[in-house]
Amino acid sequence: MPESDYDTLDFFTDQSLVPNPYPYFDHLRSRCPVLKTSNYGVVAVTGHEEASVVYKDAEVYSSCIAVGGPFPPLPFTPEGHDISAQIEAHRGELPMSEHMVTMDPPEHSRARSLLNRLLTPKRLKENEEFMWRLADEQLDEIIGDQTGTVHCEFLSEYAKPFSLLVIADLLGVPEEDHDEFREMLGAPRPGANVGSLEGETLDHNPLEWLENKFCAYLEDRRANPRDDILTGLATAKYPEGDTPEIIDVVKSATFLFAAGQETTTKLLSASIRLLAERPDVVERLRADRSRIPNFVEEMLRMESPVKSAFRLVKKDTVLGGVELPAGTIVMVNPGAINRDPRRFDHPHEFDFDRSNVREHLAFGRGAHSCPGGPLARVEGRVSIERILDRMTDIRLDEEKHGPAGDHNFNYEPTFILRGLTEINITFTPVQPHAATA
Ligand code: HEM
Repeated sequence: MPESDYDTLDFFTDQSLVPNPYPYFDHLRSRCPVLKTSNYGVVAVTGHEEASVVYKDAEVYSSCIAVGGPFPPLPFTPEGHDISAQIEAHRGELPMSEHMVTMDPPEHSRARSLLNRLLTPKRLKENEEFMWRLADEQLDEIIGDQTGTVHCEFLSEYAKPFSLLVIADLLGVPEEDHDEFREMLGAPRPGANVGSLEGETLDHNPLEWLENKFCAYLEDRRANPRDDILTGLATAKYPEGDTPEIIDVVKSATFLFAAGQETTTKLLSASIRLLAERPDVVERLRADRSRIPNFVEEMLRMESPVKSAFRLVKKDTVLGGVELPAGTIVMVNPGAINRDPRRFDHPHEFDFDRSNVREHLAFGRGAHSCPGGPLARVEGRVSIERILDRMTDIRLDEEKHGPAGDHNFNYEPTFILRGLTEINITFTPVQPHAATA
């Protein structure tokens, strides 16, 4: 596409930007890292330094429109140099206003504090133990008793159920309910008899089902406390010592599925694509497993699963020399800021020796920075370890993605997330514990 077209096309709806948004982001940044676009007056922040300012300053940049950005339009017309009062008056009319991602301090800190019991080092360690077992179970499910070449659609067969069940385990969902979660949240076991749930699976609203399920768990644990994680969650208090309503705990807990499943799925599917395309990288990882965390970081930088996050300017401000009046909609693009050449050398190249790779902002920064970051990193590490243990000769399935040199991939048609719709691979299985380093 000619560069001049980039100035007029609609980032939010133009499908031509979906397969590869990076040249568009480069174009915006080359014009200015803080640029007013022709799309709904949105100001795109594509520079690393400028984005860090936005993320860290919750006093000036409200998260009330974090998810939808310009959609739907604001339910009020911003007036004056400080619209804090207008935001508060209309907050409840904005999408997802009941979830922490759209809240501002002090409500945000209260909602987020309810997760504290879940994200302790002890809990994360237990969760990691579950992940090792789960990774093997998922791979067993894929491989079965096959010994020759195995074909696998990695997203539905591994990444989705894996990232779903990791969150279920984190929240303490009893293992006997895991299959129900898989079925109801769109990652059923192969050959699962979803018939018994058919009415629900076809018509149900997954979030509503999830909220009802957690309401039931938490009400039960408040009435009959046990020595389990759900009881810890049910009896969590706010930092001030008051007890939250059940529904507020439910919102914080169930939001983890919305925030943590799709994103991690996208990290894992981008990773397997790279491994299938780059046998040299696989070889290096096999030779030195200690490089796996760097691999995961570089994947997060290169293919940041969150493509856009939004803020509403509360008070007139200046960012990167550009005046932003109160009421301006700001779009921060992790996929762009993580390829800012002022921060990362040769930004479009995969380089897992990059010394400053952890400066990427794939998990955001500041008060809303992703609380699931440590978990997602471990999910990546455990999965890559087990993939190297259990698979050799990992390749793209050319029947599905076309021949070498002319591969084709589809990405989800959304401006919010960056991720493959499917990734088909072939590999030769290695029997458990028989792999060499
Ligand atoms: C590769 C995987 C992941 C990526 C790239 C990612 C990215 C992000 C980003 C960029 C934000 C900040 C949004 C903003 O500032 O507006 C965020 C927030 C959040 N993430 Fe993640 N995330 C991932 C995995 C997870 C996981 C596994 C969980 C939970 C177990 C999780 C839970 C959350 C929650 C609850 C928030 C809202 C935090 C707040 O508003 O204070 N995420 N994530």
